[in-house]
Amino acid sequence: MISKILAAVATTTAAFAQLGHAQTAPNDEGWAAAYQKAETAMGRLSASEKIGLVTGVGWDKGPCVGNTGSAGSIGYPSLCLQDGPLGLRFGKSVTAFAPGIQAASTWDVDLIRQRGQYMGAEAKSMGVNVMLGPVAGALGKIPNGGRNWEGFGPDPYLTGIAMMETIEGMQSSGVQACAKHYILNEQEVNRNTMSSNVDDRTMHELYLWPFADSVKANVASVMCSYNKINGNWACESEEALQKLLKDELGFPGFVVSDWDAQHTTEGSAKAGMDMTMPGSNYDGGNVLWGDRLQQAIGSGSVPQSRVDDMVKRVLASWYYTGQDTGYPRFNINADVRGNHAENARAVARDGIVLLKNDDGVLPLGAGTSKIAVIGSASVNNPAGINSCVDRGCNTGALAMGWGSGTVDLTYLVAPHDAINERARAEGASVTLSNSDDPGRGAQAAQGADVALVFITANSGEGYIEVDGNPGDRNNLDPWHNGNALVKAVAAANPNTIVVAHSTGPIILESILENAGVKGIVWAGLPGQENGNALVDILWGDTNPNGKLPYTLGKKPGDWGTSVVQGDDNFREGLYIDYRHFDKNNIEPRYEFGFGLSYTTFEYADITVDSTATAGPATGDLAPGGPKDLYDTVATVTATITNSGSVDGAEVAQLYVTLPASAPEAPPKQLRGFAKLPLTAGESGTATFNLRRKDLSFWDTSAKKWVVPEGEFGISVGASSRDIRLEGTITV
Ligand code: BGC
Repeated sequence: MISKILAAVATTTAAFAQLGHAQTAPNDEGWAAAYQKAETAMGRLSASEKIGLVTGVGWDKGPCVGNTGSAGSIGYPSLCLQDGPLGLRFGKSVTAFAPGIQAASTWDVDLIRQRGQYMGAEAKSMGVNVMLGPVAGALGKIPNGGRNWEGFGPDPYLTGIAMMETIEGMQSSGVQACAKHYILNEQEVNRNTMSSNVDDRTMHELYLWPFADSVKANVASVMCSYNKINGNWACESEEALQKLLKDELGFPGFVVSDWDAQHTTEGSAKAGMDMTMPGSNYDGGNVLWGDRLQQAIGSGSVPQSRVDDMVKRVLASWYYTGQDTGYPRFNINADVRGNHAENARAVARDGIVLLKNDDGVLPLGAGTSKIAVIGSASVNNPAGINSCVDRGCNTGALAMGWGSGTVDLTYLVAPHDAINERARAEGASVTLSNSDDPGRGAQAAQGADVALVFITANSGEGYIEVDGNPGDRNNLDPWHNGNALVKAVAAANPNTIVVAHSTGPIILESILENAGVKGIVWAGLPGQENGNALVDILWGDTNPNGKLPYTLGKKPGDWGTSVVQGDDNFREGLYIDYRHFDKNNIEPRYEFGFGLSYTTFEYADITVDSTATAGPATGDLAPGGPKDLYDTVATVTATITNSGSVDGAEVAQLYVTLPASAPEAPPKQLRGFAKLPLTAGESGTATFNLRRKDLSFWDTSAKKWVVPEGEFGISVGASSRDIRLEGTITV
């Protein structure tokens, strides 16, 4: 049976090869079966049904943010595409999961997978066919990039693993995932006009990397982005869509345009785009496919076979995820939350990073009887938690950034509410100053055993401007004059703890100048469980166990990247975030991978076992690229011991240094991590399985992933700068 299916696929492959577009050979049983069903079903479709399946019905013309035509003859519905990456936009009773960046900050693959699975379950219960996430672009090379928080941070390995876990989780629940925004969409300013110009190696080793993992995870769809890529619109870039995604990565699913990111009828069809959304511009005009695609077929400017390929990809993704049987109908009012708040809380909590804890000011203990809570972010926006369109607000407790990647909150646990409740249970009292006025903050802080002062920084998608920030943040300072607030509070109270909620890095230098600042809790971007997650950490019910998914520098110039006007030539190449800090010997304030705990961990006994061989990956093409790229070729282990007196969890990290024979590369690159829960005194083994890909560089002349010859450096540690063990692999 399987051989018959593969034979059918081979025939299709040959047919498409004739078009000059090597058709995806889904070298995978599940896809092969789905392609066969799609092929059969397509035979029953009329010409106009085919066009309908790949064309949105027009902006605001259907129940979801994106809707296609249907095909009754094969039981195919009007496909419903709905945002987004942290839950279901516009849903009435949905979970506001912790955003992607917080998930990355947990470094916990089980939680990340469960988050995906629960999001997928909510989508299915609501009848959403395609959930528009997760996000790997922006990758986050610019620290103030507006939408970085929707994804998993600027390290391609961490993002790649998070994409994989999320997509597999989502699709295991039956929804089609959509990896977006493909590709090089790193800023909001000018996103609709700028060209991102990048060299081949940087493209592969940074930006394409997590999309490759997404394809490997069998993602059903990919969204092409607004920007240009090396001069061509992303949704018309044959280089990006056909060559990289479909030919090189063997992507068997469909490419959908970002909303109104299509520019021409023919160019997009020929470049490899498979579905246009929302099918018109935002005024309902400018329909580029639909009838115009039909005309283009008629005139021969777009081959019928290309449209058949689009249809087949769209149908195959539907069959692949099993949506052809018993899929619910769309219902925006359905209460789909189940027990998912548990994951929302766990991710929010385990993504919290303890940055500073002088004199053991945390956890709060029996001696803490008077607590001051200070700052407008400690309480919910008095105007209402959903009062601003797509969360584009500038005040109140922060759950997420703003834009299409948001949901309507059914509740938001504000820090003050959760702290107050917990303090009462402990017999402690809480004084609140719910403003950012330094004088009032200082007054509240006076005489308290501890002062908790809340700062925030917010960002989002470029169609909304908040407080003069056009999506991207204008700077890396805390909002609402947070530095002045902290200064006043710290002068009034020697046990000041700063709690930061932010979409990305903030410069903490002026805050650290205050002797009264004993603690800094980087609480990240928590979703609906904001206060609950924080309380779990403050009182030590959970030992802090998150680690930074990006670097915190000391001044804006430290990152070497910033929002550009005009085109972006990606001159920094491979050197973004810690790769840049390491190469240029810039001392970060808090480095990538950093995070404190209430306990201590020791590292010992590194073992390295390798079967890696030099040379290019040569395996058969499967989703994700040559199959052998994903084979484990080396295993490294280390013993981690909780050497302190309380239970905790450690994220051990593995960084690879390529041998001298490779072209110049970043000094260290993350290529493994393991999170180990360890009771006090307990030891465990961190195991890092390195895939062939993890030891390869992109050879631009051979156009292949190549494992170089020589000695690889293997560094295992508690952060990118706290290396505890070293080993080598010789190839
Ligand atoms: C965003 C996408 C989103 C789409 C539909 C666009 O503005 O860039 O991320 O999925 O809108 O809402």
